[in-house]
Amino acid sequence: MNSYLARHIWPDTAHIIHNRLAIGGCDVSALADRYATPLYLLDEATLRTTMRSYQDAFSAAYYVNHGIHYASKALLNTALTQIIVEEGLGLDVVSGTELLVARRAGMPMDRIHFHGNAKTRAELERALDWGVGAIVVDSLDELAQLAQLSAERAKPQNILLRIAPDIAARTHAHIATGSADSKFGLPLTALEHAVARIQDAPGLRLQGLHAHIGSQIFALDQFCATIDVLLDQAVHLRNCFGVIIDEISPGGGLGVPYVADMPPADISAYAAILGQALRDGCAARNFPPPRLTVEPGRSIIARAGVALYRIVATRSPAKPSLPGHLHIDGGMADNIRPALYGARYTALIANRANAPADAVWIIAGRYCETGDILIRDVALPQAAPGDIVAIPVVGAYTLSMSSNYNLTPRPALILVRDGNAQIIQRRESEDEVLARDQQL
Ligand code: LLP
Repeated sequence: MNSYLARHIWPDTAHIIHNRLAIGGCDVSALADRYATPLYLLDEATLRTTMRSYQDAFSAAYYVNHGIHYASKALLNTALTQIIVEEGLGLDVVSGTELLVARRAGMPMDRIHFHGNAKTRAELERALDWGVGAIVVDSLDELAQLAQLSAERAKPQNILLRIAPDIAARTHAHIATGSADSKFGLPLTALEHAVARIQDAPGLRLQGLHAHIGSQIFALDQFCATIDVLLDQAVHLRNCFGVIIDEISPGGGLGVPYVADMPPADISAYAAILGQALRDGCAARNFPPPRLTVEPGRSIIARAGVALYRIVATRSPAKPSLPGHLHIDGGMADNIRPALYGARYTALIANRANAPADAVWIIAGRYCETGDILIRDVALPQAAPGDIVAIPVVGAYTLSMSSNYNLTPRPALILVRDGNAQIIQRRESEDEVLARDQQL
């Protein structure tokens, strides 16, 4: 590994060989030539290692039953789900179509949690028909509808109740979800009512309690606080209703570094602190230790992904004190995160990866919007049209949030491993972009 690559933000297999970036044993500039740009790469080794780290860390930290449910909103397709199945993880889905992909990939339905604050009736029926492991109920109205839809079924449907734990996560406001007035989850004051409703519903079985306080969180104590709120509620429900909660889920949310000066994602520390909070919390409350499920999305997939763009044009600085621009052939339609959350990224010129970084550049996307800037300030070598820009840590919430803005087709996704590259989601064609378009 060349010292120029900060290990904690690049895939495990990233190397610089003869001045060129290679990932998964493939020269990425050659992949860009072969498959065109923008192009997203997924490093299979990093992905599998990270999933195993999660399994190992939680087995070591919490000897009671646990489940790792990958949050599919971060990125989902059939091939990726097949890998998730092989690695023994479960899935958190939030739409009927995500559930369909899970089924196509052979994910056992009992390993799926179905989330969402506004699931449609058709989606709930699909989840019931296909027998998902648990439906995570977000509101009293959803509960009423589920009670009705499940009433005539042979087997009761397991549900988790998602609560809003009233914890303001230290993260970007757009991705904080734990406050009392969040759009997600039942207010604590509605919990008793919900449990009473479940007890009257023969088709429903209360399996557990869930809370998700937000995403890109580094303060691990906030996850412990979430576990404490969930356990307090579990004890309260035992005292009021005699129900025993046998699953607790503090959601997902572990933060990851996007640039070299951020700390690495410490999955072991995360697992250790959650395991301890749950064990100690149960002992202190004399409560039987429940199953622990977590729903990591970003911390599983982000670092496995690298985006490749071709430089289309350069623009010299407007004043000597300002950076110049590199105009690339992608941007906010494939990665909305800088525009939406002010997310920071870094980059490398993949075909001259060891050249001295003696210029400062702004990396500007191709879309007709001033805010379409992927990186505001990055030290890179002198660069020219035709060069390939590689941006790491783009596996999560990029392609899954991509659009056809300016009617551009969405990029391909390639899985790389041991020198082989396989398309797992092909580039969208212009015909597909126009498929819904009708003449008068
Ligand atoms: N569980 C639930 C109920 C969630 O809503 C989410 C993420 C997760 C788990 C996974 O969280 P993670 O481990 O990935 O942090 N688009 C934003 C992130 C939105 C997160 C939505 N929910 C971004 O690009 O930063």
